[in-house]
Amino acid sequence: MATYEQLFENNRKWVEEKKAGDASFFDKLARDQQPDYLYIGCSDSRVPANEIMGLEPGEVFVHRNVANLVNATDLNVMSVINYAVVHLKVKHIIVCGHYNCGGVRAAMIPKDMGILNPWLRNIRDVYRLHKDELNAITNEDKRYERLVELNVQEQCINVTKLASVQQSYVKNKFPVVHGWVFDLHTGILKDLNLDFDEILRGIQEIYNLTGSEE
Ligand code: CO
Repeated sequence: MATYEQLFENNRKWVEEKKAGDASFFDKLARDQQPDYLYIGCSDSRVPANEIMGLEPGEVFVHRNVANLVNATDLNVMSVINYAVVHLKVKHIIVCGHYNCGGVRAAMIPKDMGILNPWLRNIRDVYRLHKDELNAITNEDKRYERLVELNVQEQCINVTKLASVQQSYVKNKFPVVHGWVFDLHTGILKDLNLDFDEILRGIQEIYNLTGSEE
């Protein structure tokens, strides 16, 4: 376990390594950011966003919270998405969950979790929406894994409900929303291959905020 002081030592080493690879690394970094990706993932310390995608500083805009939730009353995630879409004009929005997610696990346990209740409620709502499919899975571990995937799927739908996302997509054909799951046992990222166009069409009857009739 690194000590607190060790972190600054690590930082100095990192700076030297970056400069050794590219002397102008920090000059470029300080200029501007133009990331193509917005990544929304879990706060879990075992899922480091940049590292698992092999991306350098400046290449991905990141938001993380417990169980990678996109809730319309969460000013934090709403601001992140709005800034990423309207100002950074990201081409892709990735919602990335992970198996063995403590937040998803906690939502499967019928217990009063205090301050966590309203947060976990979002995941319990996902369970309710997909109750028939989930309850049909008799193996509890498999049911847990499926809830992780369905939670990602529903958060992708929540991203798609946003006016900024819909309006940009109608105009520019981006951002495209993707749902992924990270497997801690293998390190592999799994693409859930959600059909973004189909999701968009599916919700438009109720959530169309593009200002057009279709
Ligand atoms: Co998690």
